[in-house]
Amino acid sequence: MAITPPPQRIWWKEPIAKVELSWIIIAFVWGLVMFFMMIYWHGAGEQNLSNEAYKITPERFAEKSQAMIDEYTVREENYFPVVHPPAGSDVYLIARLWQWWPILELKKGETYRLHLSSLDWMHGFSLQPVNINVQVHPGYEMVVTIKPDQAGEFGIVCNEYCGLGHHLMVGKIYVVE
Ligand code: CUA
Repeated sequence: MAITPPPQRIWWKEPIAKVELSWIIIAFVWGLVMFFMMIYWHGAGEQNLSNEAYKITPERFAEKSQAMIDEYTVREENYFPVVHPPAGSDVYLIARLWQWWPILELKKGETYRLHLSSLDWMHGFSLQPVNINVQVHPGYEMVVTIKPDQAGEFGIVCNEYCGLGHHLMVGKIYVVE
C-alpha cells in the first residue's frame, strides 16, 4: 500500500514490468509523431497562424495605435472610434482592462498586418466565429497577416482570464465589401 513505505527501499533498482515498458515506448513514439505532426499541420492543415512577435513597450504600442486612430477614424459607436485604415496597411488593436480598442473596419479581400498587444495584463484575442486565437502579452507585439474573405461583423472575445471584467471584454471588427 502506498501509505506505508515499501519493505525494501530499492524501487529504483527493480526491473520495469513489461506492460509498463510497452506503455513508455508507445507514449514516447506517439509524442514524436505528434511533434512532427505539429510541423506538418502548420503547412498542410491551414489551422496554425504564421504570426510574428516583437518586443515593444506599452507606451510605444499605444502611440502607434493612437496615430492610426487619429488619422482614420470614420465614426463613433458607443464611445468607441470606428477606424477604417487604408487597404494593405498596418492596423493596431489594443487589449487592455477590459476592452479591445478601437473597432476596426477592414475591406474584404485586402491584406492587412494586424498588430496586437496589451497595455496591462495578458489577454487572449479570439476572433469569432472564425476561431482565430492569439495570446496577447504586454511588452510584446504580435503581428498576424490577415486577409478577410467574408464581409460582416466579427466578434472578439478575451479568452485568457484577466480579472473582474474578463467576461465583458468583447470587441468587434467589421469587414465591408
Ligand atoms: Cu482580457 Cu480576459
